[in-house]
Amino acid sequence: MQILTAESAQVIYVIQLSFSIGRPIVRPNTITLAAPLHFMNTPSNETAFTIDTSSIKFGPKITNEAGYELARLGAKRVLVVTDPQMASSEAVRIATDSLKQANIDFTVFDQVSIEPTDTSLKEAIKFTIDGNFDGFLPVGGGSSIDTAKAANLYSTYPADFLEYVNAPIGKGTPVPGELKPLVAVPTTAGTGSETTGVAIFDFEELGAKTGIAHRSLRPDIGLVDPHNTRSLPKMVAACSGFDVLCHGIESYTALPFSQREAPPTPTHRPAYQGANPISDVWALAALEMVGKSILPAVLDDNDTEARSNMAMAATFAGVGFGNAGVHLPHGMSYPVSGLVKQYTPEGYPEGPKGKGIVPHGMAVILNAPAVFRYTASSNPERHMRAAQLLGADVTGAGPEDAGDLIADRLIHILREIGVPNGLSGVGYTVDDVPRLVEGTLPQHRVTKLAPRLTGADELTELFKDSMKLW
Ligand SMILES: NC(=O)c1ccc[n+]([C@@H]2O[C@H](COP(=O)([O-])OP(=O)(O)OC[C@H]3O[C@@H](n4cnc5c(N)ncnc54)[C@H](O)[C@@H]3O)[C@@H](O)[C@H]2O)c1
Ligand SMILES: [Fe+2]
Repeated sequence: MQILTAESAQVIYVIQLSFSIGRPIVRPNTITLAAPLHFMNTPSNETAFTIDTSSIKFGPKITNEAGYELARLGAKRVLVVTDPQMASSEAVRIATDSLKQANIDFTVFDQVSIEPTDTSLKEAIKFTIDGNFDGFLPVGGGSSIDTAKAANLYSTYPADFLEYVNAPIGKGTPVPGELKPLVAVPTTAGTGSETTGVAIFDFEELGAKTGIAHRSLRPDIGLVDPHNTRSLPKMVAACSGFDVLCHGIESYTALPFSQREAPPTPTHRPAYQGANPISDVWALAALEMVGKSILPAVLDDNDTEARSNMAMAATFAGVGFGNAGVHLPHGMSYPVSGLVKQYTPEGYPEGPKGKGIVPHGMAVILNAPAVFRYTASSNPERHMRAAQLLGADVTGAGPEDAGDLIADRLIHILREIGVPNGLSGVGYTVDDVPRLVEGTLPQHRVTKLAPRLTGADELTELFKDSMKLW
C-alpha cells in the first residue's frame, strides 16, 4: 500500500485496483490517495471510491486461451453459454477447442435469449444447478455474458430470484461471497460486460429491465478478441457501438461520487459510484476511439481496424462505467426495451413471445440527445469535451452551446447510420409516455446518478422530446 498526501487535500479516498489478478490471489491492491478539494462535500457524503475491473487479455485469436485460463482457475467441468445464432460460430468453435486442449469437460448451453428476461435467466439457472458446473465460459454478446453471470450466482448461492436483484425492484442483497471462475469472450463491441459486475434482464411483470449488480459478479477474465467482431451484422455493430458511446458519455457526465450519500457499511458501497478521476480517464479514452471508429466500423464491415478499435473502446468504456455507472439514457432505455411492440431491426432475432426487440444500444441512444441537452447545464465543460471527442467542431462555442453541440453530433451519427428517427420510429407514441416514465422511476441504481435531480415531470418531457429527433 502506498500513501500519497497533498497539502491541499482534506479527504482521503481509496482506490482498489484488481487488474491482472488471478483467482488464487483475490486481495486487491489498495492505493490511498488524497482527494482534490473540489471533491469535498458534507460529512454524510461519500468520501471514497473504488475501481475494480476484470483482468483483460486483448488481441486477435486470444479466444484460443479460454481453456488455458479456465484450467489455471481450477475449473474441471465448464458450462459454455451462448445464444442459438452464435452456437455455430467460429468463436464458439475456437473456445470449445481450447477447452478440449486443456482437458476440461464442458457442456454447451445455447439457449440464451437475446436481451434476457427473468424467465430466460431462470431456465439457464435451472440448467446450471442440474449440471453441477465449476466454471463458466460465455461466448457471445452481453446477453450471453449476463446470462452466465446470473447462472453462476444462483447456482453458487441459491436463493429466491428477487433476492439479489437491485432494490427497490428486488431485495438488493449483496452477493454473499466468491463465485465460480468465469471467463468471458465478448463477440460484440458493446456492453463491456466482460469488465462489469452487472447482469441485466427484462423483468417481464414490470415491463422494464433491471439487473443484479455486485462486484463479485465480475468475470475473472475477459478475452477480448477483435476477430470475433468481424461477423457482426451492420445493425448489431451499430447498436452495440451506441451502447459503448453512451457508457462513455454517461459515466463521464454522471453525478460525481462525492455527491452521493456515504454507504452505511463498505459492503453497501454500490458498484455504480458516480464519476471519479479514474473512471474519467477510461471514459475519455473510450470516447476518443468511438469518435474515430464508430462510423467506419458500422458502415464498412471490411474495416477491421475500426472494428478492432471499437472492441477496445467497449472494454475501456466498461472499466469506466462499471465503476462510475450510467444515468438517464440507460435508466430510460429499460422501459423502452421492456414495452416494445413489433419493431425488430435487421440482424436481430424476434423477441420472446412473438414480441419485437428494441436492442439495448438503440433503446439507450434514442433518449440520449434529449437527455444531454437537458443535463449539459450541470457541467457544460464535460458535455462539450464529449461532443468534441465525437467529432463536433466546438470552435467559438460557449457553455450555453454544450447541450446542442452534443445532441446535434449524436443525431449526425444516427442519421449517417440510418437509425429510426426517435422513439416514434420504433413504435411508441406520446400515449406511451406515462408507462415509459413509470418504468424509469424505480431504476434508482442509475437515475440517482443523473447530474440533475430528475423526477416524473422531467422524465415526461425527456420522453416527449425523444419521440422525434430530427
Ligand atoms: N452487464 C453489463 O454491464 C451490460 C452493459 C450493457 C448492456 N448489457 C446487456 O447486454 C445485452 C445486449 O448485448 P449485446 O449488445 O452485446 O448483444 P447480444 O448479446 O444481445 O447479441 C445481439 C445479436 O447479435 C448476435 N451476435 C453477437 N455477436 C455476433 C457476432 N460476432 N457475429 C454475428 N452475430 C453476433 C447475437 O446472436 C444476437 O442475435 C442487453 O441485454 C443489455 O441490457 C449488459
Ligand atoms: Fe449499456
